[in-house]
Amino acid sequence: MKIPELFKPYIEGKYGQLLADICHALVVIGEANGAERMVPITSAHTSTIIYYSAKETGLEFLDEVAASGVRFKVPTSVDPISIDIQNYCEIGIPEEYAAAQMRSVKSFAKMGGLGNYTCTPWTAGNVPHKGDHIAWVDTSALIYANSVLGARSNRNVDPTAVAAAITGYVPEYGLHLEENRKADCLINVEASLESLADYAMLGTFAAKKFPEKNIAFIGLENKLITDDIYHHIGPAMSTWGNIALYHVIGHTPEAETLYNVWDNLGIEINFSDKDLETLHDEFSPKVKGKQFVVFGCPHCTLSEIESIAKLLEDKKIKQGNMLWVMTNSNTLELAKRNGYYDVITKSGSKVLADMCWVLSQKTDEIFLTYDSIVTDSTKGALLSRSVGKPTYVKDKAACIADILE
Ligand code: F3S
Repeated sequence: MKIPELFKPYIEGKYGQLLADICHALVVIGEANGAERMVPITSAHTSTIIYYSAKETGLEFLDEVAASGVRFKVPTSVDPISIDIQNYCEIGIPEEYAAAQMRSVKSFAKMGGLGNYTCTPWTAGNVPHKGDHIAWVDTSALIYANSVLGARSNRNVDPTAVAAAITGYVPEYGLHLEENRKADCLINVEASLESLADYAMLGTFAAKKFPEKNIAFIGLENKLITDDIYHHIGPAMSTWGNIALYHVIGHTPEAETLYNVWDNLGIEINFSDKDLETLHDEFSPKVKGKQFVVFGCPHCTLSEIESIAKLLEDKKIKQGNMLWVMTNSNTLELAKRNGYYDVITKSGSKVLADMCWVLSQKTDEIFLTYDSIVTDSTKGALLSRSVGKPTYVKDKAACIADILE
């Protein structure tokens, strides 16, 4: 593989052995996948600073990279962390845990990272364009960038995403190449989809049927497909399967028409009302006992927060239950300005920023004191199963109606 001149100082050790090693890994991965060259990127998104998953080794990794004096070459955002920076005390996160998390936040900032701590970085300043090569890690963000923004990224892991962010290059293979971005499977959506939970079911259905493929959805051409809808389809697909790219015919940027992304060579199936009903039955049997309702996997948008505020206006959460709304700090500020924050918190619920509710030691502990976890995200439900409590998926209105006084 041809190595760009600007990449060579990094791999030759000018900025220390650790950076040379992760840059070398980027080259090895590229060569193993048949890349012929490296291409410049315009954006990066990592998850390297989450204390819950990175632990001490992660802190040391980032400290050492930051200490070498390098800075990110492109706008670089990062996934949610394990604490709400402003309000960690309010949910009982110990000082020591918060201090450990803040150590990696500082290293990330030292390299010029965008301090928005979110899995929806396009709502907080990191917005690549159609056709841009980027290096994003695989959470809800990667599938959105590929599918909804039309940018191009493979499923990166943290160290190589950091290497790409610092050097500004990735090897060109996989989803960076036009020929690999066509759909392998076509799903004809016959079901009437109403709530965001319905769209999460559609994504889950696609992932269960075709866990490793590029998918195209047809049948939604006359629907209004909002950003909130994309936030519920994509994460379901990337978590219940390993899908990194989908197209919605007539909506997403590479799929103006079916023929842009479909060669009539793959498998075609339908998604019917019956399929939707079966999935809802699987995810939401009758919920009993004390419920922990949580929205924001991925982080809630302002319009989702507005809809939650409308459902909670002048209402109170029944004692023994809880509701958390997770978002990023930019959206939280807007929710405060628009009055949604006050409405939600007056009901006894919390609105938290910066953190991932499935990647915090404290949330695990809190969840254990309830009988079930209830959400409108099939991704959130799958990941929070590790806590060992039953998890259910319903649309926001049904989740909230169940826990009101
Ligand atoms: Fe975001 Fe955490 Fe869910 S990173 S997508 S809130 S698992």
